[in-house]
Amino acid sequence: MNHTNLEFFTDWFNSYVLYFHTGDINIDVNYILKEEHTQRVRINSANIANSISLCENDQLLAEAISLFHDIGRFRQYYDYNSFNDLQTGSHATMGVHVLEESNVLACLVEEEQSIILEAIEYHNMISIPTEVTGRTLLHSQLIRDADKLDGFYVITNENEIRKYSLDPLVEDASFSQNVMNCLIECRNIDYKEIKTLCDRKMLELALVYDLNFQYSRELVIKKGYIEKLINYLPESKEKNQIKSHFELYLNRKELTNSGSTSCQWGQSIR
Ligand SMILES: [Fe+2]
Repeated sequence: MNHTNLEFFTDWFNSYVLYFHTGDINIDVNYILKEEHTQRVRINSANIANSISLCENDQLLAEAISLFHDIGRFRQYYDYNSFNDLQTGSHATMGVHVLEESNVLACLVEEEQSIILEAIEYHNMISIPTEVTGRTLLHSQLIRDADKLDGFYVITNENEIRKYSLDPLVEDASFSQNVMNCLIECRNIDYKEIKTLCDRKMLELALVYDLNFQYSRELVIKKGYIEKLINYLPESKEKNQIKSHFELYLNRKELTNSGSTSCQWGQSIR
């Protein structure tokens, strides 16, 4: 892959998303949100790729994956008026179909086309399938981190939260015990469990367990995302437990520099 390919993909993306704009800002704002998200994820991807000194070819590939990772969101909103995958099916799969139908990746060798499509397909799964290896695994891990880093930015930023229509949950800072148990036991939190904005923030916090790169973990600490999310919890014994838990977890991660998503820390804070 080369710079000309990436420029071509960027032009294609810009024309594709423009097609969905209607001129009615109340509708277009939904598409603009995803365009802005894509731009930020692209920057995150480039920074992660740079932090691990990827070769230029893979740096460009990482940027192309971030550019296209949510391409399915546009058709999803157009067809269903919703970004809820539980109601519409996976937006990642929709994105893969858009790229395949348009044949926009045809200028790349087959291996690179398949890395892009697979990384997009896996970007929102609860975990990457265990059989995925090599460059596909690397790029899948990279887009998942880049996407999560933007999730942390959005959920800790009141202006962004408003844009994402999370307002109905804003006033409710109580948490569901099931969600708290998952967090304490280092288990993934199911979207179906989310009842309050506080739950939604705890779901985001649990995603820290799934970060793959040291750059991502350092950024999470530097930006104070964990503190901001934990501070949202009402005063309770769980709040203090979770605070110490994450301090310990991240310190240990720094020492081991391991990308493993397994977690045995639930025992330590019970
Ligand atoms: Fe996505």
